[in-house]
Amino acid sequence: MNEQQQEGQAGYRAWLAYHPRMDSAASKEESLRYAWIASDDRDDTVRAAITEIVEGIGTMYGAAPRISATATDAAGENGPRDSEPNAAYGAGPGILVGTFAANERLRDIFGVEVAELGREGFAIRAKDGVTAIGAHTPVGALYGAFHLLRLLATGIDESELEIVERPANKLRMINQWDNIDGSIERGYAGSSIFYKDDEIDFDPARIRDYARLLASTGINAIAINNVNAHRLESRFVTGDYLPRIAELAAIFRVYGIRLLLSINFAAPIEVGGLPTADPLDADVKRWWRERAADIYAAIPDFGGFLVKADSENRPGPFTYGRGHAEGANMLAEALEAHGGLVVWRCFVYNCKQDWRDRKTDRARAAYDHFLPLDGAFRDNVVLQIKNGPMDFQVREPVSPLLGAMERTNQVVEFQITQEYTGQQRHLCYLVPQWKTVLDFETRALGEASPVKRVVDGSVHGRALGGFAAVSNIGADTNWTGHPLAQSNLYGYGRLAWNPELSAEAIAEEWALQTFGSNRQVADAVVDMLMDSLDIYESYTAPLGVGWMVNPNHHYGPNVDGYEYDKWGTYHFADRDGVGVDRTVLSGTGYAGQYMGANAGTYESFAECPDELLLFFHHVPYGHRLKSGLTVIQHIYDTHFDGALRAAGLAERWASLEGLVPADDYDEALARFREQAEHAKEWRDRINTYFYRKSGVPDERGRTIY
Ligand code: GCU
Repeated sequence: MNEQQQEGQAGYRAWLAYHPRMDSAASKEESLRYAWIASDDRDDTVRAAITEIVEGIGTMYGAAPRISATATDAAGENGPRDSEPNAAYGAGPGILVGTFAANERLRDIFGVEVAELGREGFAIRAKDGVTAIGAHTPVGALYGAFHLLRLLATGIDESELEIVERPANKLRMINQWDNIDGSIERGYAGSSIFYKDDEIDFDPARIRDYARLLASTGINAIAINNVNAHRLESRFVTGDYLPRIAELAAIFRVYGIRLLLSINFAAPIEVGGLPTADPLDADVKRWWRERAADIYAAIPDFGGFLVKADSENRPGPFTYGRGHAEGANMLAEALEAHGGLVVWRCFVYNCKQDWRDRKTDRARAAYDHFLPLDGAFRDNVVLQIKNGPMDFQVREPVSPLLGAMERTNQVVEFQITQEYTGQQRHLCYLVPQWKTVLDFETRALGEASPVKRVVDGSVHGRALGGFAAVSNIGADTNWTGHPLAQSNLYGYGRLAWNPELSAEAIAEEWALQTFGSNRQVADAVVDMLMDSLDIYESYTAPLGVGWMVNPNHHYGPNVDGYEYDKWGTYHFADRDGVGVDRTVLSGTGYAGQYMGANAGTYESFAECPDELLLFFHHVPYGHRLKSGLTVIQHIYDTHFDGALRAAGLAERWASLEGLVPADDYDEALARFREQAEHAKEWRDRINTYFYRKSGVPDERGRTIY
């Protein structure tokens, strides 16, 4: 535990805690390997890299590298104070960091092999005492600096290193669902760090630390306001708010993160005083072009607009008889000359499941709306598609829209904030879920077209693509409420950079950086994280059917509760069976939206994977799963088991008392205890419901309350 992690501050430094690595004698010796740091760059971003390395190595090894004369200039006012000008640059072991263009020594060291790095990649070479971090751009150098620190913090401290990295995805974006009143839609870690009382109101140091956390995982874009942009937020694109937004953009810029705004499609009416927001209207087009010009005058590297239109009562082009492509293209035209993007969300549906009409299906909506528009969007439009067809349930199939549009840029949207996965009161490490999505074979090109290759652009040869996700942070000291929920933010960024990393490797990196090198702690935390998604799924909605939460706030068990009207539930349980028939043959036809063999797999009662059976089929309680259990017995078993395993998490955490910072320990323990109690409630509500519906007793004779 280092100083910053003491009382009241635990968790604030998150995975950039830079814990001391070893006893002080060994540390001292290691630190000699990093006696100096040098760079010929004069860029703020390279300065940030130098500052980070000096601080990180200083804290981990107890002795900070001296900043060489050139790097002292580069570190400028923000640089560490105790540097020694003209220290041994080039003599003895040290670190070189920066761009090839500015640093002759880096060019000498790396030679010509660096072309493949692209705009954001980096190379690290440790040899003959010098650790060199080189990149084509300052942000590449910054990523390299964070990478080196990650290696050191996780115990990889080799005298010879040879690393080349570049991100798999161009767009690696975070969406804040923060509102200007300071609240956060689906936020579970306190109020907003961006807004308060209808003002943009922030502590620059906190924003900078958020930027550091994000950049350290490779995030390069952030939309700073809720996709549901209401009256005041609609004004963000006008002069009133731009100076403050520009200040935020300037902080993020240093860390290679471009700022985007969520816009209100009706802003021309609401704030522009125009009679219409019709995307084909000349005045509307002019209004948006002017807004774009104003924004770029204040924020030259502005990222663009994120748009939720014609969805959940948000305004959009439908009002004017126009479609999504016309809406998106109008905005794209306004941004094009400035290099901005329109990120247009596909979370569009206008129906609920209806008991009387088994053809209406919300799951179909995104595909039905957008597939016909393939090829209709401008090049600077990218569609943001939720990972599943519904809404971030613990288990859903992968959205059939991913990969289906050959001539359209796509990003996959995940939800880091745990709206339906325990709201940061339950432990639910989501990286394994995201991996399942990313590895899903879409069959867009027959074989070899998994989602990760669709969104990185390679399957359909798209120039643009990547990841977006809803953030889980707020003003709580530890950022995420549940201390272990930080792992989801970390893991998201790491996967966006490299989707090949395993969930376990990411968990281990995170645990070692966050809690230090104690193996007992790291191993226990990794095991708990890796078990957590399955535990959560076990005691909540079974076999992919989803929902079963309370209305509005979406926390806690309520089998029929999810915003259903008197005509329907989302699970169609009756006395004979449960699940939604989404087959082409007899159901909503949703299964037919999948490509190639996937459609047949889901259509078939026999082939459909157990974990999604109730999403695709209405089945009798006595139906035998591939596991050999009947559906009803599976429900009973998983719920008894899940509640037990949830209680086990609290015990496993308790074994770490004294080994993790006290604040983290207490915060998490309180949550694990709540989770254990709450899992019992889930167990009882679900088991009782299905016992009453089916009349089938538990074959193991357990009491169902
Ligand atoms: C969910 C969530 C809303 C959110 C919406 C969205 O429905 O409950 O709060 O606005 O998703 O993604 O736009």
